[in-house]
Amino acid sequence: MKTVFSLKNPIGLTLLLSSMALLGAGIDPQPVAEPTLKEAYKTYFPIGVAVAPRNLTGPESELIIQQFSSITPENAMKMGPIHPEENRYFWKDADAIVDFAQKNGLKVRGHNLCWHSQTPRWFFTDSTGKQVSREVLLSRMKRHITDVVNRYKGKIYAWDVVNEAVPDTGTGVYRKSKFYEIIGEEYIEKAFEYAHQADPDARLFYNDYNTENTSKRARIYQLVKKLKEKGVPIHGVGLQGHWSIYEPSAQELETSINQFASLGLAVQVTELDVSVYPKEHERREKKVTDTSEFTAEMDAKQAAHYKMLFDIFRKHKNTITNVTFWNVSDKSSWLDNFPIPGRKDYPLLFDQSYQPKKAFWSVVKF
Ligand code: GLA
Repeated sequence: MKTVFSLKNPIGLTLLLSSMALLGAGIDPQPVAEPTLKEAYKTYFPIGVAVAPRNLTGPESELIIQQFSSITPENAMKMGPIHPEENRYFWKDADAIVDFAQKNGLKVRGHNLCWHSQTPRWFFTDSTGKQVSREVLLSRMKRHITDVVNRYKGKIYAWDVVNEAVPDTGTGVYRKSKFYEIIGEEYIEKAFEYAHQADPDARLFYNDYNTENTSKRARIYQLVKKLKEKGVPIHGVGLQGHWSIYEPSAQELETSINQFASLGLAVQVTELDVSVYPKEHERREKKVTDTSEFTAEMDAKQAAHYKMLFDIFRKHKNTITNVTFWNVSDKSSWLDNFPIPGRKDYPLLFDQSYQPKKAFWSVVKF
């Protein structure tokens, strides 16, 4: 594994100098992995990472600035955290993330404006606890979306407007969420319209997971096709990309990219990670034991899988306009303890000490 100190840029130089100071103090320096992700993909698409305010200081912030060209707030802009009460917004965390991006020349993807999960308690009920009417819910949505998009207008270039509206199984296109129950399927187009009115320059995405599953892909396709045909301001589909070393196949992934592109939509990979464990429903068939250890076999399989994914992303660079990782390094991932409590996962390109893994090199060397 090749790690070098960079003298090419001020960050490298700062790191080199601080590394020398650290060496003097007997502490391991932080090397710069080269080429960096953002350099390697400069002529392809921005490479992003999901962040929380805690990632914006110390070694993680160094890594973010060195390697990435785009960030997404992991939780800070979700409806619950940012709009905890009807007449109160909590902007602090989201502002800190956008400020960090502005200071360091990073693009920002906003995430997300309308999702059935992580909603604030007050959103669907009135002061007596009764479910609100269609009109009230639409006006709450409009106010929320307008306020949030407006605040970051010109600083956020793309928004996940509606997240996960399609169910995993069955033949239905619409998840039976509160938004759907109270408003009906039009809640989706309304969300896009409100976002577009607030910032006509922002690129607006429908975002979902399991987008490579044949049945779910077909139903997402139906949904976005209908939106396009109705003239709804939707510009792209976000493939979340919560994958594993066992899936998706190259063919499954390419089919999804091609289908959405055929509608004239951009595709962004919005929440990429490659778990070292099979998905729950595949677990029994694969007979994989969970050791919580990152084995050499996992390391190699993961590098090969990431290589395959990025080979395809580059091949479709005219459709793919951003690839964003979900979390910074294996030190901390939302997949730790999920879905199995006590189990550690290793889904990213940097290890628990922020060092590049085999998978990193398989992504930048092409
Ligand atoms: C979904 C959401 C993300 C995040 C992940 C888990 O993919 O879109 O915001 O909550 O689940 O981290």
